[in-house]
Amino acid sequence: MTYGCQMNVHESEKLAGILQEYGFCRADGAESADIIVFNTCCIRESAETRVLGNLGRVKSLKDGNPSLIIAVCGCMTQNPGAAERLKKRCPFVDIIFGTHNLHKLGDYLSDLESKKTRVEIWDGENGSVVEDVPIARAEGVNAWVNIMYGCDNFCSYCVVPYVRGRERSRDMSVIVAEVKELVSGGYKEITLLGQNVNSYGRDGNDKGTNFAALLEKLSALDGKFRIRFMTSHPKDLDENVIKTVAASDKVSDFIHLPAQSGSDRILGLMNRKYTAKEYLTKIETIKKYIPGAGLSTDIMVGFPSETEDDFAKTLGLVREARYNNAFTFIYSRRSGTAADKMDGQIPYEVKKERIMRLIDLQAEIGSALASECVGKTYEMLCDEYDPGQKTGRGKSDCGKTITFGTDADRRGGFVRVKVTGAKNTNLYAEACEE
Ligand code: SAH
Ligand code: SF4
Ligand code: F3S
Repeated sequence: MTYGCQMNVHESEKLAGILQEYGFCRADGAESADIIVFNTCCIRESAETRVLGNLGRVKSLKDGNPSLIIAVCGCMTQNPGAAERLKKRCPFVDIIFGTHNLHKLGDYLSDLESKKTRVEIWDGENGSVVEDVPIARAEGVNAWVNIMYGCDNFCSYCVVPYVRGRERSRDMSVIVAEVKELVSGGYKEITLLGQNVNSYGRDGNDKGTNFAALLEKLSALDGKFRIRFMTSHPKDLDENVIKTVAASDKVSDFIHLPAQSGSDRILGLMNRKYTAKEYLTKIETIKKYIPGAGLSTDIMVGFPSETEDDFAKTLGLVREARYNNAFTFIYSRRSGTAADKMDGQIPYEVKKERIMRLIDLQAEIGSALASECVGKTYEMLCDEYDPGQKTGRGKSDCGKTITFGTDADRRGGFVRVKVTGAKNTNLYAEACEE
């Protein structure tokens, strides 16, 4: 059971790979499972509440089937003191491990004889990169590839640097070999993962390595496939990377660039290391080099001491940037982070009211941008097929989700489509004749 971001989605593929090597196969559901692994997230309080609620539910399964193994791992368990608290609160859990010892799941299964909860959390301060973990990848067009782990940015609201350790990059040659193999195995979309992909290579011995060089190297591989990446940090996304994206016919013309806020005062308190103006200049540079680029962002409302004026600046930034899509969050206090100790925590009602206004504004902008697409043609990668509706679905090169009519199952294929209609942010199209 996976919670949280794409990093966790991919790490669950590794956990599944280890379990398969150990002789397990995927169960149809929790009721028929011999083992349930909870790969958790703690980015916001709501993520943790969800995990705890679902753990409470599987307790009854364990009561009915004492040989059921329950393991909990991921970001939530890595938080200082969390594993011990979890052990007390849920004594029926058999194994608790953290983000740095995920590859050890097989070992933990081997010595489960003692009835005691096995708790092992490794310190990630000097974390290493573990290669050669088996991966049971999800079927479909997309394959996830880690390019780096950890985060050194310490945005004041965020737990990730504490639960994922310091930044460390994988060797470029290892990444290139993995992508090559995935492409020859039939994957059509490769998504490069890192908390801050733009600082790829900065921690390595090979100082010549950087994210733009990695993108160039991957673009030079044979085959028809698409490269996507997430996440970029606005302070590190440089012109070189933008030009590389523009020049490559394989790298998707889509950039997810979390802004978080439009107020310089709040951005300072968040430790984001850019101003709203610098951020918007990056957006302009993207639009200059990559005409038609798709843009998305993360925005947070209700950061400690955020005033109505600060929030108005966030709305202003959203209006100016014109995102196709925005992921919006209510600030959630996370213990151990700098923001948790700040004065001026905002009441929930105020945060809720602000996020509603933000969502409304973004819906308006997203719909306006969607209707501008009508009449245009796009190359899209089909990854879903509905035989009942006779529709295919997928993303354009610039990251727009498009539904198109088709009698044939065209999953895994690149299709040229012409957009015929837009409803809110949804786009409808017909396939162009080849
Ligand atoms: N490394 C990525 C993703 C971080 S988590 C990045 O830097 O963008 C994804 C998003 O969750 C963040 O961009 C932020 O908007 C949100 N987030 C992080 N901590 C949060 C918190 N304490 N409360 C609410 N949202 C948070
Ligand atoms: Fe968290 Fe900031 Fe790192 Fe993103 S860059 S993971 S928001 S600390
Ligand atoms: Fe991802 Fe949640 Fe961890 S967002 S990095 S799974 S805290």
